[in-house]
Amino acid sequence: MKYFFVSLLIILSGCTQAQKSSIDEILIVYLSRTNNTKAVAEIIHKQVGGKLVALELVTPYPENYRSTVAQVVRENETGYLPPLKNRIDNIENYKTIFLGFPTWGMKLPPPVKTFLTQYKLNNKKVILFNTNGGYGKGSSFETVKELCVGCIIPEGFSTTGGFENEGRLLEIRNEKAIAVNKDVIKWLRKIKMIF
Ligand SMILES: Cc1cc2nc3c(=O)[nH]c(=O)nc-3n(C[C@H](O)[C@H](O)[C@H](O)COP(=O)(O)O)c2cc1C
Repeated sequence: MKYFFVSLLIILSGCTQAQKSSIDEILIVYLSRTNNTKAVAEIIHKQVGGKLVALELVTPYPENYRSTVAQVVRENETGYLPPLKNRIDNIENYKTIFLGFPTWGMKLPPPVKTFLTQYKLNNKKVILFNTNGGYGKGSSFETVKELCVGCIIPEGFSTTGGFENEGRLLEIRNEKAIAVNKDVIKWLRKIKMIF
């Protein structure tokens, strides 16, 4: 009897370990200023697990929306890559990386370009998600495809968030969060990340 329980314990601890390591293979990285993209990241995290990381800058963008827009235009013109505060250790351990960002000036935000330049993600599955003010993802997904050489990029997800320009900040909450949750689940099933 004693041996039965010991064996059971060993089997159970083995299962937990196996489950844990498969969860650890997923990384969810996102950039979010007003928390809409963060809300989508959290929905994804609830479904697939893994490690959730918010990209932070060494020098944060100004509080003021217009100054931020102007700074982003300059950074895009000069190709400046704003340094990130985060350091993601052992990125090679992750096979699947969800990468989320808002649309900025109909483009990929410069900090996401920094992330893609800083880490080698070739042969990894890089799954994109986006929130925007209603004008879509612009060229952002295309730019990721250009910068993420050798990455496997399945169909991404894009939805409307807020728009600071119009004083609309976090909009993915309450009923809208419920609707987005449904859309995210549908998409995750379609790309076979959940069943
Ligand atoms: C600097 C800046 C530029 C933006 N440019 C666009 C744009 O070109 N098109 C658009 O639809 N929304 C634009 N937006 C709105 C954001 O994409 C939208 O509010 C998004 O949901 C914000 O995500 P977040 O809450 O995760 O920061 C811009 C927002 C900022 C701060």
